[in-house]
Amino acid sequence: MLTSPLVLLASLGAGLVQAQQNTLDDLFVDNAPSSPRPYVIPHYANSHSVTIGPQLYRFPVTGPSSGYAFTLMGTNAPSSGNLGVLPHIHRRHYENFFALKGRFQLWAQKSGSEQQGRLLTQGDFGSVPRNTTHTFQMLDPDTEMVGIIVPGGFEDLFYALGTNYTSGTDTPYVPSVSQEAGSPSASIMSQLQKYDVYPETFKARRDFVNGSAPSHNTVWHTGSNELGEPARPYFLAGGYGPKYLSSEHGYQIIQPLVEPKQAQDLNYTISTISLSRQTKDSPPSYTLDGAAAFEVTEGALSIQIGDFPLVTIMTGDVAFIPAQVPFTYYTETAFTKVLFIASGNNSLDQQLISGGKQWDWVTFPKY
Ligand SMILES: *[C@@H]1O[C@H](CO)[C@@H](O)[C@H](O)[C@H]1NC(C)=O
Ligand SMILES: *[C@@H]1O[C@H](CO)[C@@H](O)[C@H](O)[C@H]1NC(C)=O
Ligand SMILES: *[C@@H]1O[C@H](CO)[C@@H](O)[C@H](O)[C@H]1NC(C)=O
Ligand SMILES: *[C@@H]1O[C@H](CO)[C@@H](O)[C@H](O)[C@H]1NC(C)=O
Ligand SMILES: *[C@@H]1O[C@H](CO)[C@@H](O)[C@H](O)[C@H]1NC(C)=O
Repeated sequence: MLTSPLVLLASLGAGLVQAQQNTLDDLFVDNAPSSPRPYVIPHYANSHSVTIGPQLYRFPVTGPSSGYAFTLMGTNAPSSGNLGVLPHIHRRHYENFFALKGRFQLWAQKSGSEQQGRLLTQGDFGSVPRNTTHTFQMLDPDTEMVGIIVPGGFEDLFYALGTNYTSGTDTPYVPSVSQEAGSPSASIMSQLQKYDVYPETFKARRDFVNGSAPSHNTVWHTGSNELGEPARPYFLAGGYGPKYLSSEHGYQIIQPLVEPKQAQDLNYTISTISLSRQTKDSPPSYTLDGAAAFEVTEGALSIQIGDFPLVTIMTGDVAFIPAQVPFTYYTETAFTKVLFIASGNNSLDQQLISGGKQWDWVTFPKY
């Protein structure tokens, strides 16, 4: 592969060998690479996309591209009167759902506990640990559901079920009058164990009040949410979870979505990070023990990875950083927010949290 020497040179850093200069064309790819290297995938680029009925799935980070650390996927689909997939569990994969835009419902139930349902809108998050029955339903025409699945490689299920998709326009999803939701049939679902899919008997509750079911004892967009106990599903409404303020270069507000405690042996974290315009000198360089990815959810992030040129990425664009490759990041906008996904339990988000302080706001101070 052409890419491997570039990664090697990038990770060696200084030029033992005179490196050919990596270019923006080398950094930007249409498909997640077959082994870890720095790359950027623009929003709605093909990236191994497949359709399942009207649902369009893209995979900006795959098992192979992350060294099997995690899969990052995007699902775009029209609103539907039906569940997007028949209810099921994964025994080995921990799945997380983030609403980039639009609305969808997400149900999760641990055996022996009451079934939980939430209506997720932009910035909301749902966490579905292993052995938790779950399903979802798309509710709005312009909805994008971001999935983070650990460990990586779960996309093989979608490759097996889906139809390869290509587009000349990179349309978010293909216009179609079909009203089907796209779930494989029950008989197909029952044959997917090798992809870690086990169908479960489950009737999705419909007694939602104010976006939540059950409505009693449930705080949803009315007060603060906490991350769940290990192995239990939980939901965080956008801005209502725990927050930390870092003042290290400009301001950054870190909102953890999955911390080491929830990830357990799967050894990963997810946070959102909101950045103020950088006010100090040049931003610090980080080198992480594990793979990491940024997906911009608002604004524009400038990022420089390894020996690649500085690039500015916008909403829905993904930058992937392999383990041990140095990078810097900042924003020139007043407010930029990213979804940050990382292998390991001391990644950038955890470092910023431990160097920061608890903070009650989604905005930073005025000076
Ligand atoms: C679909 O795409 C994958 C690569 O993403 C390829 O390996 C496979 O052969 C393709 N399948 C078909 C039917 O074209
Ligand atoms: C999930 O359930 C399966 C089957 O009962 C069990 O073998 C596995 O250990 C469970 N996984 C976790 C993480 O608890
Ligand atoms: C639903 O929202 C309305 C309006 O905010 C509020 O008055 C009502 O108490 C809520 N119901 C429940 C069950 O939380
Ligand atoms: C973080 O990971 C290390 C190594 O995997 C482990 O020893 C440690 O207990 C973990 N910490 C937490 C809080 O999970
Ligand atoms: C946790 O992840 C980090 C980063 O990928 C890795 O260095 C470490 O070995 C992992 N620990 C375990 C116990 O898997």
